[in-house]
Amino acid sequence: MQSSWIPFVPDSASTVSGKVDALYFYLSGVTVFFTLLISGVLIFFVIKYRRRTPYEIPRPIAGSHKLEILWSVIPFMIAMSMFAWGAQLYFEQSRPPRNTNEIYVVGKQWMWKIQHTTGQREINELHVPVGRKIKLIMTAEDTIHDFFVPAFRIKADVVPGRYTTEWFEATKAGTYHLFCAEYCGMNHSGMIGSVIVMEPTDFDNWLSGNSSLSPALAGQQLFQSLGCVSCHGANGEGGRGPALAGLFGRQVFLNTGQTLKADEAYIRESILNPQAKLVSGFGPIMPTFQGQVSEEQLLQIIAFIKSLQIVNPQPATPGPSPAASITATSPAPATR
Ligand code: CUA
Repeated sequence: MQSSWIPFVPDSASTVSGKVDALYFYLSGVTVFFTLLISGVLIFFVIKYRRRTPYEIPRPIAGSHKLEILWSVIPFMIAMSMFAWGAQLYFEQSRPPRNTNEIYVVGKQWMWKIQHTTGQREINELHVPVGRKIKLIMTAEDTIHDFFVPAFRIKADVVPGRYTTEWFEATKAGTYHLFCAEYCGMNHSGMIGSVIVMEPTDFDNWLSGNSSLSPALAGQQLFQSLGCVSCHGANGEGGRGPALAGLFGRQVFLNTGQTLKADEAYIRESILNPQAKLVSGFGPIMPTFQGQVSEEQLLQIIAFIKSLQIVNPQPATPGPSPAASITATSPAPATR
């Protein structure tokens, strides 16, 4: 584990870490500058304007608008520069770019369970290649944890019942600390691990030494064994239940008249609480799978749904509305 040449500052090993440091040093620099300026002027004035005789009466001071405006406007501009810079960096960090490799992370007391889209599993270790954008899709089984990699300057809460994401692009091979940064019970301090950044060729070798099922394939098996196929079709083409092929990332029309974007959270909710958001044109016939699938299995089913492509080639979306294409595939004959 390397660290930076500045004491207590972790190594800088991602594309954003330098930017976070620059902002941090700017904030520290401004703070130090004004601390010195104000205390210096304070000491100077204490000496210069001290009472020299016991009966001295100070000169009356009328005030100065010029000074008042100056010491309001300058700090305002400085504060706004911090806000604008910080907000810009925050948005950059919180919006993953499009072309990312996804990795699933499940936190539980007290370990990190990680699965790559190729199927490779890890516990308390995360192997990633240099120079590729990685997006972590994270959830927790029990309580709030927080996935923190100081060398990448990324940190995000991992919350039961929802998916949070963080993304990074490592810039330097090496082994870096991984911490849980949210107090999560007795062994919180032991919920640590390593992020191992490898050269892309080494990483591909590492990944090829993999024998476990990819999450999408595991999800497909669950999809069959849990009986999802009987309503959604073997290839997600739909039937008594809405079509799932091509669903991910698309607009969904609900029977309340609302629309939403089908993301991980929506699919998860629809598995655990199917009645919460019914797709327009479908009745409340799906049973809940609460308690029957683990968080990891949910992620696998989601990976499977993400991998489903539209089966019957239909006119591309610009023509009919997405609602039409959802219902168009639904009255498929229930042959099985
Ligand atoms: Cu998990 Cu602290």
